[in-house]
Amino acid sequence: MNKDLLVNKFEAIYVASQEKLRFFFAPGRVNIIGDHIDYNGGKVLPVAISLGTTAIVRLRKDNIVQMSSTETKGKVRVDLDKEIAYDKRAGWGNYPMGVLHFLKATDMPIFGADVLFTSTLPIGAGLSSSASLEVLTGFTFMTLAGKEVDRLALAMLCQQVENDFIGVQCGIMDQFAVAMGKKGQAMFLDCSTLDFEYVPFQTGDYQLLIMDTNSPRELAGSEYNDRRLQCLEAVGVINSKRPIEYLCQATFSEIEELIEDSNVQSRARHVVWENQYVHEAKEELEDGDLKAFGECLDASHLSLANDYEVSCYELDVLVDAARSFPDCLGARMTGAGFGGCAIALVHKDAVEKIKTYVGGRYEAATKMEARFYVCDVVDGVHEV
Ligand code: GLA
Repeated sequence: MNKDLLVNKFEAIYVASQEKLRFFFAPGRVNIIGDHIDYNGGKVLPVAISLGTTAIVRLRKDNIVQMSSTETKGKVRVDLDKEIAYDKRAGWGNYPMGVLHFLKATDMPIFGADVLFTSTLPIGAGLSSSASLEVLTGFTFMTLAGKEVDRLALAMLCQQVENDFIGVQCGIMDQFAVAMGKKGQAMFLDCSTLDFEYVPFQTGDYQLLIMDTNSPRELAGSEYNDRRLQCLEAVGVINSKRPIEYLCQATFSEIEELIEDSNVQSRARHVVWENQYVHEAKEELEDGDLKAFGECLDASHLSLANDYEVSCYELDVLVDAARSFPDCLGARMTGAGFGGCAIALVHKDAVEKIKTYVGGRYEAATKMEARFYVCDVVDGVHEV
């Protein structure tokens, strides 16, 4: 949404004041490869994308924070002098409320403010709309307090919001990517140590195409937590023979020999394979071998679909259709799964053709319309 329009909307919602308006932006993220291994001490390779969330903010003279969104009606009101607790009725407002809750526990001053959020991210489509909103809120209030933002600490605080306020036991990947993103670079992050390096995301004549199933991810929260428990179970079994901290440290023979439950065994197999694919993909990307890089994407999707069982019919239709197109080097679901988005690496000249082709196949198979996005790889959260 353009700035003037946003200012008009803001002025229509909030009482006028002399304080100046400030703007902040947080990107969404696409994980190129490495799904469901951030919470297993694995490596991931996300990028921050140009679709994201914007906040327009103005300080108040009291200790009240009012928040609204261009996507929904109504205001969320927080009294900073009172305990901030999860409130089902607040819906999306719980994400920024959770951030304020945990910021209060630090020694940082939080000032009252009026805030209007707007988003170009499809909400709940697996492009980290919630991490974007959390990190944006944290960065905004830290900046308003005149603080130099420690981006890693911010990402960790926002992960805590998901874990302990929202109740999704997610890993660190999304909040990290939104906070630490860099223009033109992917982040190769070791989730067991939080060591990371930037890897140029150079795909030559090829382009990342995001394909959105446009189908709700209702199971995402509960199934996600179930997968996490199964991984913990696998760690427990292996620990009875050899101490490991994270499932990514297990070997294939340990998984085959020690884990009896076939579901738990498949989950563990995915985790260890996926971690290897990330290493391979990073090397192929650095060597400019895009064909081999695309093959890693394909292999990762199969592992997520067959062993981790977090894909779904809609995602598989998109991925299979993209893959059957000659100018596509590879495709996979991205993020938590159970709906949401997939990505494909496609020749720049073929983007429009592939959209029509995949879109047609998708509609025929699902009676739904897929959405497509082509994004730039951008910097993490910042003031604009
Ligand atoms: C969600 C979580 C992340 C990560 C992915 C799957 O996006 O928030 O921490 O686990 O799923 O890779």
